[in-house]
Amino acid sequence: MFNQNELIKYLMCPQTGEDLIYQSGKLQNSSASNSYEVNKVGIPLFVGQSFSQDAKTQEAHYDKVADDYIANIGYPHTQEYMRYLDLAFLELIENEEIHSAVEICCGKGEVFSLLGNRVANGFGVDVSTRMLSEAKKNFPNSNYLFLQADAIKLPLKNNTFSHVFMFGGIHHVNNRQQLFNEIYRILQPGGKFYWREPVSDFFVWKWIRAVIYRFSPNLDHTTERPLTYEETVPLLHKSGFKCGLWKTLGLLGFCFFMNSDVLVFNRLFRFIPGIRKITRFFIAMDKLMIKIPLLKRAGLQVIGCAEKIDVKS
Ligand SMILES: C[S@@+](CC[C@H](N)C(=O)[O-])C[C@H]1O[C@@H](n2cnc3c(N)ncnc32)[C@H](O)[C@@H]1O
Repeated sequence: MFNQNELIKYLMCPQTGEDLIYQSGKLQNSSASNSYEVNKVGIPLFVGQSFSQDAKTQEAHYDKVADDYIANIGYPHTQEYMRYLDLAFLELIENEEIHSAVEICCGKGEVFSLLGNRVANGFGVDVSTRMLSEAKKNFPNSNYLFLQADAIKLPLKNNTFSHVFMFGGIHHVNNRQQLFNEIYRILQPGGKFYWREPVSDFFVWKWIRAVIYRFSPNLDHTTERPLTYEETVPLLHKSGFKCGLWKTLGLLGFCFFMNSDVLVFNRLFRFIPGIRKITRFFIAMDKLMIKIPLLKRAGLQVIGCAEKIDVKS
């Protein structure tokens, strides 16, 4: 069922850049050279030529690990630690009006869930139809559209969106220059790109992660690589962005209480009485430690924001 006809005007053919129309269960470009299926739950499928090799690998990977990933987000200690990370993000964005927003690598639509009814029109992009179906269940409203598409070839129009969000998605994309170019292309002048991602600027995390990424069955080391400041910020600048924020957070508490999809022992924490309180204690410690100047860049997660400069201003 496809009930988002109003939102089609935000879309374009990823091959030709032409407008799309909905006809006989498909989205078709104006010259009728390309058409895209809409699946039975109403998700347009921009697959085929539009998919990079990395996207194909991640599609297969996430369709397989989706259940573990979703279970992980539900553990009490993960939820508690995640709340701390979420509040850190919400504080940053509390005074912004969000008109039309894109969540790339949206999974179940984590950012849209946090923003509640602040989003006028929301577009979720992911490669995994398994994850997108979950998102679709969470957001049945007609002002949300979930699309199966590759982050580096978005079926979305130029200069259109006020916000783009990526939580846990950039590190899945190898071709980051193309990713940032795409995000820059679809944002309005003055539009903002927010991300929250694993970061490995601190050598200890870098080594530990190198081992975990290599051997965990729930990670795909060929397509997953945490961010570093030195790589990311110059790429953003090259795409045209002004990078206004790079804040790391999450130290030991993050290590212990997040990542139960990867660190299997951590799943047992849910049986420990008072686990939420214990997690909150570690959060308080992490908050204190990250204030130590030497550890400022040592967090395991980075929250960042870059702006598409309005050339007229
Ligand atoms: C770690 S999950 C993050 C999900 C969600 N943003 C969250 O915070 O829970 C990464 C997501 O990125 C998606 N993904 C990976 N590579 C992608 C690509 N090239 N284009 C679009 N989505 C991609 C995966 O299918 C998966 O749902």
